[in-house]
Amino acid sequence: MDQRGWLKIIALILLCFLPLSQGRGLGDFGFKREDSNQIYNKTLARILVEYASAVYTMDLTELFTWTCSRCGDLTEGFEVVEIIVDVQNCLQAYVGVSPDPNAIIIVFRGTQENSIQNWIEDLFWKQLDLNYPGMPDAMVHHGFYSAYHNTTLRPAVLRAVEKTRKLKGDVPIIVVGHSMGGAMASFCALDLVVNQGMEKVKLMTFGQPRIGNAVFASYFIEQVPDTIRVTHAHDIVPHLPPYYHYFPQKTYHHFPREVWLHDVGLGSLVYLIEQICDDSGEDPTCSRSVSGNSVKDHLVYLGVNMKAETWGTCRIVMDYSVLPYQMDLAGNVVLSKDMMRKESESQPIIQLDKQGSRVSGTSTI
Ligand SMILES: *[C@@H]1O[C@H](CO)[C@@H](O)[C@H](O)[C@H]1NC(C)=O
Ligand SMILES: *[C@@H]1O[C@H](CO)[C@@H](O)[C@H](O)[C@H]1NC(C)=O
Repeated sequence: MDQRGWLKIIALILLCFLPLSQGRGLGDFGFKREDSNQIYNKTLARILVEYASAVYTMDLTELFTWTCSRCGDLTEGFEVVEIIVDVQNCLQAYVGVSPDPNAIIIVFRGTQENSIQNWIEDLFWKQLDLNYPGMPDAMVHHGFYSAYHNTTLRPAVLRAVEKTRKLKGDVPIIVVGHSMGGAMASFCALDLVVNQGMEKVKLMTFGQPRIGNAVFASYFIEQVPDTIRVTHAHDIVPHLPPYYHYFPQKTYHHFPREVWLHDVGLGSLVYLIEQICDDSGEDPTCSRSVSGNSVKDHLVYLGVNMKAETWGTCRIVMDYSVLPYQMDLAGNVVLSKDMMRKESESQPIIQLDKQGSRVSGTSTI
């Protein structure tokens, strides 16, 4: 047998062997074990990663009408209900209804600051400095918490969900986000369950940082058991803020269930493994088994581009004249569709900005 043949055999052996290591290991905190194959749906992950990518679109008109270059494909037929831009804090999110899966989808954008490198470096120093309300000993980082709880995003998202559920009934809710958007998505999912009493809430994040300590993680997974935290190869962000395994109660601690995407193989025989990790949140055989040293791996998930078209500004582009829109007093933008009307009869709702002048044309903020 030639060398190539042997390589193939080795690759096959690797492939057969690897699944045995999946889902092994009991959690430190006694999280309930479930059939791993039921909780991670590869098809769904491929759909949701496209939603998480689309939120980086700056042209709000294209996003609102779901005609952006990242819209369509596996997300065809999606109807945007609301886009929220918090201009002051440079945050963006949208809410809408998807035909498959039949669900309300809430998506948060990652950081749009000057440099992703700076943002990542800052992650090293984030403190566990806020007690999660109503949960003794559960500590989180206040910046992640506030980005969702203390901005325009939360009230607008909650209103959009309520509005949509009134119309579409009790459909499941899926919260999605990449990077910092994953951190916000996590707080949103928890908020929907704990503070809004909603059921059927699912969370899937891509390359999110750690957001709280071990007590918070165990609380989190109890409240939002349908959670998948996707990590990719050497993506640095899931390694931050740091976890110290010899000091597990005092440091940041991920919640489960991680699914670690990484390639295995030799030469031209490369296979993507979607490794379902254990229920500890910090499975040493998943992304923690490699060093987190890649920004590149942070910006691509399942082959989908997860970064903004351009960095450095909080630019918003939209054609005000064709959109129903609303601008609140803090200068934030909320585009909202009137769900009760049929498409054909919906009229743009033109509102006045705070100076009382009508805004029109394409604007850059
Ligand atoms: C996985 O998700 C896809 C897309 O929503 C869905 O069609 C399929 O039924 C799901 N599979 C399972 C086993 O739930
Ligand atoms: C919320 O924002 C306000 C104003 O920006 C700030 O004063 C307050 O400390 C923030 N609260 C939290 C919990 O971060």
